[in-house]
Amino acid sequence: MVGDMTGRSTLLTNIGELTTNEPGLGRLRDAALVLEGERVAWVGEAAAAPLADEAVDVAGRAVLPGWVDSHTHLVFAGDRTAEFEARMAGAPYTAGGIAVTVAATREASDEELAATLARHLAEAARQGTTCVETKTGYGLTVADERRAARIAADVADEVTFLGAHLVPEGTDPGSYLDLVCGEMLDAVAGYVRWADVFCETGAFDEEQNARVLRAAADRGLGLRVHGNQLGRGPGVRLAVRHGAASVDHCTHLADADVEALAGSDTVATLLPACDLSTRQPLAPARRLLDAGATIALATNANPGSSYTTSMAFCVATAVLQMGLSVDEAVWAATAGGARALRRDAGDGAVGVLRVGARADVHVLDAPSVTHLAYRPGVPLTWAVWREGRRVS
Ligand code: NIG
Repeated sequence: MVGDMTGRSTLLTNIGELTTNEPGLGRLRDAALVLEGERVAWVGEAAAAPLADEAVDVAGRAVLPGWVDSHTHLVFAGDRTAEFEARMAGAPYTAGGIAVTVAATREASDEELAATLARHLAEAARQGTTCVETKTGYGLTVADERRAARIAADVADEVTFLGAHLVPEGTDPGSYLDLVCGEMLDAVAGYVRWADVFCETGAFDEEQNARVLRAAADRGLGLRVHGNQLGRGPGVRLAVRHGAASVDHCTHLADADVEALAGSDTVATLLPACDLSTRQPLAPARRLLDAGATIALATNANPGSSYTTSMAFCVATAVLQMGLSVDEAVWAATAGGARALRRDAGDGAVGVLRVGARADVHVLDAPSVTHLAYRPGVPLTWAVWREGRRVS
């Protein structure tokens, strides 16, 4: 046995290629991994592996950390197929579609919202996603935002308050912001770790968002920003100035935005499935990496702008269309997401396979992570462990 950690242990042996995300290690050949309880207990050469309660021979397959999907909007009801069809026929994507989901979400019962969320989380888990952030933002009343936060907090790894998603129809923007910065934040604060804002034409401007971020920071919440999604604007600047953990989308960046990100701890979270579904250019991943910025890849799963839970699709797109190497894309979809959620360090870290990390493991039915881009669109997940328990 490995040591004095408690819990049943599982040895994954005969790993053909192991991506740990440990700096400088690269992909290890002929490796093994021991999970004990909820943690990784041992990583090394297969020939030197210790005994465990059970052994799983992965027969030369590739193993990597579970995907960390650091940006989703999964507390919702309703369907926007018609909007998607109109967009594919040439209509532009606008923030206005959010109101359709807000109306459907308010109508739905708690049970219906919880079941839809659980269904999407299970769909993601079957594809190798083991850590998910999700947001409120389709309620936009105190009661509906609190309900969304509560339902999300029951099942998601990370929950973010996005009351500043859109000014609800028929509401004065000033009074709505007063509500968001006061009563609404107070109502959700017990359920969420993060607050987010949507900084875009048609949503909220820099000053309005700065007000929300200050109010959230005053309550001890970490900050995130939706920025530069549909055009250049102040989103990245706002995020960096407020020390946000991430600025998400980053599709339209000026040189000053790239420099600001490179000189900060704010992660640029790129959402390629959203860029494609909204017929935007793909975010400048290569430019950001070359400048020294940290990037994450996430799905942005939501019924409007990006209805997919497939991190593998995001990775394949990043390699095939955005100029990343396979290793860079895999890192961004695992360790990069963990960094964006500030879960990359210490006991129980995610997005990494090292002793003491959370035992979140993704086994591909392929000999190498390269197959994620080499065989795009092919379901390659063979097995998944989350917190040491096999979930797929
Ligand atoms: O990240 N940008 C704002 N929010 C979501 C879109 C939500 C929707 O269209 O329903 C996004 O793309």
